[in-house]
Parts: sequence; structure tokens; C-alpha cells
Amino acid sequence: MGIGPDEFRHVLGHFASGVTVVTTWDTDGRPTGLTASAFTSVSLTPPLVLVCVDQRANSYDAFRTSGRFAVNVLAAGQEVLSRHFASTQADKFEHIAFRTGALGLPLLPDALAHLECRTVHTYPGGDHTIFVGEVEAAGVGQGEPLLYYRGGYGRLRVGDPRP
Ligand SMILES: Cc1cc2nc3c(=O)[nH]c(=O)nc-3n(C[C@H](O)[C@H](O)[C@H](O)COP(=O)(O)O)c2cc1C
Repeated sequence: MGIGPDEFRHVLGHFASGVTVVTTWDTDGRPTGLTASAFTSVSLTPPLVLVCVDQRANSYDAFRTSGRFAVNVLAAGQEVLSRHFASTQADKFEHIAFRTGALGLPLLPDALAHLECRTVHTYPGGDHTIFVGEVEAAGVGQGEPLLYYRGGYGRLRVGDPRP
């Protein structure tokens, strides 16, 4: 028995998620980041979130060494940013505007929300590493969320319930 990676990916694709771009600084002082949907809240008090980062990602070492990361929750109009940060392009911030947040982390303008975190735990998670961050600053923007489902992007339909 067991399940192969293709089937596993196919099944997991049926779990609809939001999309984030997780950012940090590398050891050369350059901003870096990747698109990530493996993001979740962990604890309310203290405020903890986690993100799972592939150990083969180019930006992985930066997340390990910097000790902090920001989560940018993408808005519906930011599919291009999601695709961009899901690439392996060397300097992904070369033509991307960002501002520096309260903790000095790179934040994407027009994101639906952002959280700036100090890494407080790392756990092995197969070929990924689980980074647990304590949220030290956060804020929200405006708009609708970008969604990801079965390998494609979507958005909430008008009439769907909203808080
Ligand atoms: C919608 C979506 C969600 C993704 N979620 C994750 C994730 O949670 N963790 C991860 O490590 N990679 C995830 N990826 C893949 C990375 O974004 C991709 O491997 C990227 O090229 C890594 O960039 P880097 O090698 O420059 O660090 C996701 C990609 C997409 C399109």
C-alpha cells in the first residue's frame, strides 16, 4: 500500500487554500521569498503561525539563517505575484516593489494581510522544514483573497459568505 507523490499531490489539490508569499532576507542582505500555501495559524496566546518550506528551495537557507520571516497573504489581483514567487528566478525582488515592515522584513504592497514573525521553532517535516513563528507585527489591507484549488487560481464568488 502507500501513496505515490503524483496521487498525493492530486488528492491534496482538492484542499482549497489561500496563497501567501513568505519573505525574508538572505545572508547577502537581499530580500528573498517564495509562494507558499502550507501556512496555518498554530496558537492564539502566544500568537504563532507556521509555514512549511521545501529544503530544496533556493530561499531555504535564508529562512534557516535569518531567524525571521514575513507572510504576505495575496489578494485576488495578485496571481502574477504568486506565479513570480513560485519560480526559481535568482533575484525575484529585482523588479518587485516592497516596503520594510516593523520588524524590517520585506512586505508586498497591496497584500490582503501581512504577518511579521520571529522564528521560535523549526521541526523536520519530510522534505520540508516547518518554521513556527511568533507574530510580532501584523496588519490587513483591502480586497478579496486569491485562492488556489486543484492546480488553478480562483477567487470568491460574489454572494459567498463574508465575515
Ligand atoms: C500555489 C503554490 C503554493 C506553494 N506552496 C509551497 C509551500 O507551502 N512550501 C514550499 O516550500 N513551496 C511551495 N510552493 C512552491 C514554491 O513556491 C516553489 O518551489 C518556488 O520555486 C521556490 O522558490 P525558491 O527556490 O526561489 O526558493 C508553492 C507553489 C505554488 C504555485
